Amino acid sequence: MESIDKIKAHYNFTTGDAANLKQLKPLMEKHKDDFPKEFYNYIKHLEDTPKFLKNEEIIKRHQDGLKQWFVDLFSGEYSTQYLRDIERIGYAHVKINLPAHYVNAAMHFVRQYCLKILEKGFCTDINECRYLAKSVDKIIDINLDVITSSFIEEEIKTYFLSERVESYLIQFANRFAYGLNLILVMGLVIMGVMVMGLFAYDVSHIFAGDIEKGLLGTLGSLLMMWVVIELMDTEVKHLKGGKFATKVFISVALVAVIRKLLVTTLKAEALESQLSVILIAAIAVLGIIYWLIAKIEKTE
Ligand code: HEM
Repeated sequence: MESIDKIKAHYNFTTGDAANLKQLKPLMEKHKDDFPKEFYNYIKHLEDTPKFLKNEEIIKRHQDGLKQWFVDLFSGEYSTQYLRDIERIGYAHVKINLPAHYVNAAMHFVRQYCLKILEKGFCTDINECRYLAKSVDKIIDINLDVITSSFIEEEIKTYFLSERVESYLIQFANRFAYGLNLILVMGLVIMGVMVMGLFAYDVSHIFAGDIEKGLLGTLGSLLMMWVVIELMDTEVKHLKGGKFATKVFISVALVAVIRKLLVTTLKAEALESQLSVILIAAIAVLGIIYWLIAKIEKTE
């Protein structure tokens, strides 16, 4: 499956589009109860609909799901979790063997429905209206893309063990990876607290009279704190669906070597000065790698 960032980029879905959809939220929410009714008025003309929507219980569940999906279209938040939700909807339809054509037809209705609301409720300036309509179009196209991809993936799927075992395994692996990521964030929080302790310890050297050791140590622990913040920021962005920043690993190595250099400069022996030269060379190499990665990420 593609990542949410890639899908957004392919549809040229910008933060402006997300803001547009969020702006429409209050207007669209007024129609959240009407939407499932109109949706059903539309799909009842598709001849096989009763085969899939067999009883009141299923219809009620479907209408609740539709309402939530409709509201989420205008949430303004389109992260990995959002992508997972649409994928789940896609698989729910694959599981009941609903022809993909039905979803396409229903999505056509949704597009018309949203645009009609927009025309009636929001349009004073034609250019603004066009911009808003474009954003609505994009999010509907993204939904259609992800949902229909589930159908295509299902068609080309070949199983090594069995469909059920494999889908459980994949689900388990997905959850496990997510759990590990959360443990990583917790670990980083604990690290942050420990670095704060180290910072306080280094500052205490200044008050104890050892100013040089205290100042260099404090500088080192501040650098470490900066790294923990960077790592945490990267991990949180990653959990929200962002790309993983390789640059941050180089910065961790850089800071570790810089800190080592600061500690080494306190000792004036010959062996230590040799070590300092090696450390300075390591900093130069890491610095060049950091600069190269930053440059590549910028051009990307
Ligand atoms: C724009 C198109 C559609 C959207 C957004 C949509 C949305 C949803 C949602 C949110 C669910 C619940 C998924 C879950 O388990 O979490 C669902 C399930 C289902 N959908 Fe749709 N749907 C669409 C089209 C259709 C059509 C055209 C039919 C039938 C003619 C249909 C029949 C069903 C059925 C039978 C279920 C399973 C309900 C259950 O047993 O819980 N859907 N759909």
